[in-house]
Amino acid sequence: MKKILLTGSRGQLGCEIRCASARYSDLDIFFTDLDELNITDEGAVRSFFSDLNPDYIVNCAAYTAVDKAEDEPELCFRVNRDAVALLASEACKSNAKMIHISTDYVFDGKNHRPYTEDILPDPQNVYGRSKLDGENLLMQVCPQSMILRTSWLYSSFAANFVKTMMSLGRERDRLNVVFDQIASPTYAADLAEVILHIIDSGKFLPGLYHYANEGVASWYDLACRVQRLVGNTCLVIPIETKDYPTRALRPHYSVLNKEKIKSTYGIRIPHWEDALERCIRLMQEK
Ligand SMILES: NC(=O)c1ccc[n+]([C@@H]2O[C@H](COP(=O)([O-])OP(=O)(O)OC[C@H]3O[C@@H](n4cnc5c(N)ncnc54)[C@H](OP(=O)(O)O)[C@@H]3O)[C@@H](O)[C@H]2O)c1
Repeated sequence: MKKILLTGSRGQLGCEIRCASARYSDLDIFFTDLDELNITDEGAVRSFFSDLNPDYIVNCAAYTAVDKAEDEPELCFRVNRDAVALLASEACKSNAKMIHISTDYVFDGKNHRPYTEDILPDPQNVYGRSKLDGENLLMQVCPQSMILRTSWLYSSFAANFVKTMMSLGRERDRLNVVFDQIASPTYAADLAEVILHIIDSGKFLPGLYHYANEGVASWYDLACRVQRLVGNTCLVIPIETKDYPTRALRPHYSVLNKEKIKSTYGIRIPHWEDALERCIRLMQEK
């Protein structure tokens, strides 16, 4: 049995890993969230490592409120940078393999071609900077780690854009949604499956990888598809980012190139439209 410490277990990805773990009988996962293990608490992190002595740590805990981060950067950096360094240091000391999740928001969005892992990041907001600092510290402190960058996560669990669009679409006749931010929506269940597959395969190859569902979309495309799948008649109107100002700047284009993870692990990645349909069908069955 491989023993795994998982943080942030009540978030979207943590919940999906819990669901997917039922299919992996050789993985013994210890699920924790803020109440059990606050990753910024040095003493708590140390004692978790010494008590549990995990083979792997999967860090799904993060500060993910992109706009709020502009107003509370200290907390954002404490969770996304300092705590990652702390986990990395404990992982290194105890020879545990660390899998950490990062974001497409490390990029400035000025590219017109999908971002490969070797393109230099240049985050445009506090959240992106904190995640990039977390990546860099992790690789300094524990270079034998794996970072999976992903984009536009949604799930049947926790709050996300897809769920917001489902409920707003029921309540309103019209919705304005930006069409000039483009990336790949990613079903957290698909990312969860890949993480468990990597651990279960025993083929742990450290480094930076990009993972998102196949295909690209704007938030507008995603909102339209959600309304169609759930049968809402709400009219979705495409607008420009300049007409929907937010506290944090976001990249206009943050499509991730996934060739590295696909060729390294021989995986096929589902298209975002099929993944979205699966997620919505599941929510409707619940
Ligand atoms: N969501 C996206 O669109 C997106 C896109 C790209 C990359 N990512 C990355 O993917 C990963 C998973 O994201 P997600 O969407 O699953 O995030 P999420 O739903 O926000 O879950 C994060 C979890 O971490 C917990 N947490 C926050 N601070 C903590 C602390 N100090 N100690 C322990 N737990 C703490 C949160 O608890 P509270 O809810 O109580 O704060 C929450 O349960 C993150 O690294 C994120 O940066 C996300």
